[in-house]
Amino acid sequence: MYNLTYIMKNVRIKLIKEEHRTIVFELLSKLKAHSKESFVHSIDVADKSLALARVLGIRGVHLERLYVASLLHDVGKVYVDESILHNSNTTEEEREYIRVVHIEGTRSILSEYFDEELVDLAAHHHERLNSSGYPMHLNAKKLGLLDRVLQVADVTSALEMSRCYKDAYAPEQVIEILDKLVSRGELDKRCVREIERLFLKPIRDKSQMSS
Ligand SMILES: [Fe+2]
Ligand SMILES: [Fe+2]
Repeated sequence: MYNLTYIMKNVRIKLIKEEHRTIVFELLSKLKAHSKESFVHSIDVADKSLALARVLGIRGVHLERLYVASLLHDVGKVYVDESILHNSNTTEEEREYIRVVHIEGTRSILSEYFDEELVDLAAHHHERLNSSGYPMHLNAKKLGLLDRVLQVADVTSALEMSRCYKDAYAPEQVIEILDKLVSRGELDKRCVREIERLFLKPIRDKSQMSS
């Protein structure tokens, strides 16, 4: 369903170049119609990327690229059958299918409308600095600051949100998991430190004070 008002309310339109706005809205509305959960996650990832970008001094064309890639990083999920996407009991084979199809889908959809840098950025969100990610097993040398921001924003959002297959983690659990991912060499230390400071520690400290 195309619900432009809802999308407009959730997207910071001024950050998006005029020539990109229509297609960003169209693709987001397709994603929302296919999976409300993926749509809400995408808006959340984009907000987190933006906040990180601001403290890391990312501006101008890089900021727009990061914001649009964050909004659309999972748009390839429109190619994943809904019965698998929203199934809480998927098999390993189905999970592999989701991994492959959604990244290939994101790459093929975005490459029709955006430049290579933006497409690569969106398609790198499951890569990890120690090459343990997918689909290309890139290493730290190939993953720039924008890639790292989007990876950390994506993981944080996925941990914080409840999904059909998992409950939401509390802020202290998210912090613990993110720290572990840094110590394993998967995620960028500075991005994790900043996202914890911006989003997680204030909520954790507040709940500890009131308990
Ligand atoms: Fe993804
Ligand atoms: Fe994601």
